[in-house]
This record gives sequence, C-alpha cells and structure tokens, in this order.
Amino acid sequence: MSNVCVDTTQVFKENLFAGKVLLCSGGGSGICRTMTTAMVKHGAHAVIVSRSKDKLEKAAEEMRLETGGQIIAVAGDVRKPEDMENAVKATVEKFGRIDFLINGAAGNFLAPFQGLSYNAFKTVIDIDVLGTFNLTKAASEYLKKTKGSIINVSATLYYTGVPFQLHAGTAKAAIDAMTKHLAIELGPHGVRVNGLSPGPIASTVGMTKLSAAFKRDGVNDYEGVPMGRAGETMDIAQATVFMNSAGASWITGTTLVIDGGSWMTNTPA
Ligand code: HXC
Repeated sequence: MSNVCVDTTQVFKENLFAGKVLLCSGGGSGICRTMTTAMVKHGAHAVIVSRSKDKLEKAAEEMRLETGGQIIAVAGDVRKPEDMENAVKATVEKFGRIDFLINGAAGNFLAPFQGLSYNAFKTVIDIDVLGTFNLTKAASEYLKKTKGSIINVSATLYYTGVPFQLHAGTAKAAIDAMTKHLAIELGPHGVRVNGLSPGPIASTVGMTKLSAAFKRDGVNDYEGVPMGRAGETMDIAQATVFMNSAGASWITGTTLVIDGGSWMTNTPA
C-alpha cells in the first residue's frame, strides 16, 4: 500500500481550499495540470497561464469537465513581465484574490554542454528563472493580502550534475535559491514559499524527452528507483495539497524532493 499512488481526495479533506484562488504557470499540461486539478477538486478556483492560447483553452475546458470547478486560461509568456502582470490582473478581476501561486512553467531538452548554444542556455534560464521571478513579483502584493503560499517547481538535476542538463539544472539551482530568499523576505508578511522537486514522472513531456536512460530494450526500467516505480503526476499533487494546507503552516524555505528516492541512487531523471 505504501508504494501506491492514490487521489488526493482519498487523503485530504474535500473543500480544504473552498473560496481560495490558485494562479499556476504551466498549469495546462504535465505535472502542473494535475497539481491544479487537485487544488480545484479541494475547492479552489484556478487560473492557468502559458504561451499557447489554443492548447491552454482546450486544457482549461477539459479540466473544468474533470473537476466541475472554475478554471480559466490566460495566455502569456512568463519571460514577459507585462504578460505576468496581465495574468495577475485577470485573476483578481475574475476571482478577487490570489491565495496560491505555483511557478511551474519550464523549458527543457537534452543537450550536451558543447552543443548548447548561447541562446539555448539563455532561453531555459529565462523561462525557468526569470519566469519564476516575474510571476512572483507580479502576484506578491495579492499573496501578502491573503497570507498565501508559493510553490516553485524544481528538479534534483543539479544535486549530482546529471549530463546534458546543465541549462535546466543551473536554472533549478537558482530557483531553489530564490525559494529561500523569498521565504525570508515574505515570511514576515505571512507568505510561505517552498519548492517541490519531482523525480521521473511517467507520461509527462519532460519524461518523454529525458527518459532515454530509463529504457532497456525500449521499455522503461525503474529498477534503480528505490521505491521501484516511476512517479505519477498525482504524487506531486499530493505534496502540493499538503504544502498549501494549514498542515504545512510552519514550513517555509524548503524544497521537498518527491522522487521515490531516485536521485540518491543517481537514477537519471
Ligand atoms: C539544443 C535547442 C533544443 C534542443 C531548442 N534549442 N531546442 N538546443 N537541443 N533540443 C535551442 C534553439 O536552437 C535556440 O537556440 C534556443 O534553444 C531557443 O529555442 P526556440 O525554439 O527559439 O525557443 P522557444 O520557442 O522559446 O522554446 C524554448 C524551448 C521550449 C525551451 C525549446 O519550447 C520548450 O522547452 N518547450 C518544452 C517544454 C518542456 O519540455 N517542459 C517540460 C520541462 S520538464 P539558437 O542558438 O538556435 O537560437 C523539466 C523537468 C526536468 O524541466 C527534470 C526531470 C526530472
């Protein structure tokens, strides 16, 4: 039982976040989509933000059908401060407040250091690091009003210097630093700031791109993961619901690794 992933509604109270509002970058796909739907299943309203308007609108419609909740899409590029200010404005106009921010938008691909162009490195730093800063800065005054919670989505890549991930690992190291700096500065305003660091999560764009190391004869092999399985997006949603709940009210400035122990065995993620 301990190694089985279940829905958050089997663990946490429904209506835990009734009347609260989540703003999530990258919330239309992958891990962040499940993080967002979990928050909505527990009563929150949500706004999802990413670049592709059409994909985002489609995702929001599917997520509304899945949850029966209120989820709206606002197109924007996290690299553009004005887009993030617009996303915050749209959230407050629609729902009146912001309680939770998830900085989930990320760019990634496998590339050796020698094959990484100046612009390729800059692009990932811009999406991950500037994106996290831009949306946090735009939303921070509203988060102070609600004594809210921020979750920055990170990765363990830089703990061991995983090959072909210099750009993403460097970006995530900066994000983990930002989590601590923000926790110190926003704590006195009642805002908690934490990170979640997912390991290999099945069926995500990230894993499809990065999972070559898990394949043996074309089949995924998770023997190196101490818990013996790939993660599921729901594993990250569980931690999201906990981290945003009152149960975590004295936790700030930490980044929680959710990876079945894989980084410790250097299983590539
Ligand atoms: C080398 C590449 C590349 C690749 C792009 N570039 N893809 N270099 N290998 N596969 C280079 C381009 O040649 C260009 O440099 C520069 O990066 C910018 O590329 P653009 O396509 O012009 O930029 P943009 O449209 O902004 O797209 C950036 C992007 C983004 C990073 C490629 O589209 C993207 O990543 N989308 C996928 C998002 C994704 O995978 N999310 C999941 C993240 S998972 P030049 O020099 O030619 O101009 C994750 C988890 C990690 O982060 C941990 C897992 C455990």
